[in-house]
Amino acid sequence: RPVLAGRDFLSNLDMSVAELRVVMDTAHSMKRGEWREVKPLAGLSLALVFEKASLRTRTTFDVGMYQLGGHAITLSNTEIGLGTRERVSDVARNLERWVDGVMGRVYLQQTLHELADHASIPVINGLSDMLHPAQLLADYQTIEEEFGTDLRGRRVVYIGDGNNLANSHIHMGILTGTEVTIVTPVGYEPNAGVLMDAVRAGVNVTLTNDLAAIEGADVLYTDVWISMGMEAEADIRRRAFRGYQVTPAMLDTIAPDGIFLHCLPAHYGEETVPEATEHPKSRVFDQAENRLHAQKALMYHLMGNLKPRW
Ligand code: CP
Ligand code: NVA
Repeated sequence: RPVLAGRDFLSNLDMSVAELRVVMDTAHSMKRGEWREVKPLAGLSLALVFEKASLRTRTTFDVGMYQLGGHAITLSNTEIGLGTRERVSDVARNLERWVDGVMGRVYLQQTLHELADHASIPVINGLSDMLHPAQLLADYQTIEEEFGTDLRGRRVVYIGDGNNLANSHIHMGILTGTEVTIVTPVGYEPNAGVLMDAVRAGVNVTLTNDLAAIEGADVLYTDVWISMGMEAEADIRRRAFRGYQVTPAMLDTIAPDGIFLHCLPAHYGEETVPEATEHPKSRVFDQAENRLHAQKALMYHLMGNLKPRW
């Protein structure tokens, strides 16, 4: 039974702890192939709206819809011009007449809220400046594959830029009980509003500039230093982040059964090196695979109650 019927997924906190459990169990079950004969989204369509580039998000939402019996249509921003060719609220009120859900990869989180406010169909965050919640579902599926479903007290250490990925990690710590540490250079800490979410939930998040915090981590996670849209700051950032690179030597200091994750794409020579991706502790391609399973589970729970309108 779909547990998120008709809702939006703009942040991991849009799910309760119990709902997250159901979605994760569905993701594991889908990965085992138990849904192969089921087409719960038959006759439904999802619009994929992209203001920025994508490999994983575009492919996995599209293939995921196909595998669930539905259809996906990709709209690049050169086609629709969100907020330039047409105002966002009008785009929302057009799309809701034709499709059953919208996935948006946008510059501003606010654009997703605007889409959601004006469309009655589910809106899914496929990456904004602030959050990447669909990615974190796949990340935690990967973490559960390694450590089981009770993750309380597991140390998840994120190193690098306090960006969309770092913010969503804090949200997942709130939901799962992992102990989240964010290691950044001074001035690149996570979003203050997201840190307030943790304070409100009574959950401790460790912020530090000290690389020693990596020692003994169950999960070491990194992401690019220069996110899409920040290219103008590239030189300043490369200087600020020097030393925060994940290397095989750093992976030797995490827990013996610890794992290395990266949402990809990797900017090799910056936040990591090819030898870390190839390291025995790396699970980055399992993680990429799990985008498909986790998002299929998400889409089923958001839209699985719907019947074709045509
Ligand atoms: N990790 C991720 O979202 O990849 P893409 O940017 O290729 O979609
Ligand atoms: N932080 C990166 C993630 C890409 C998946 C960006 O926003 O570009």
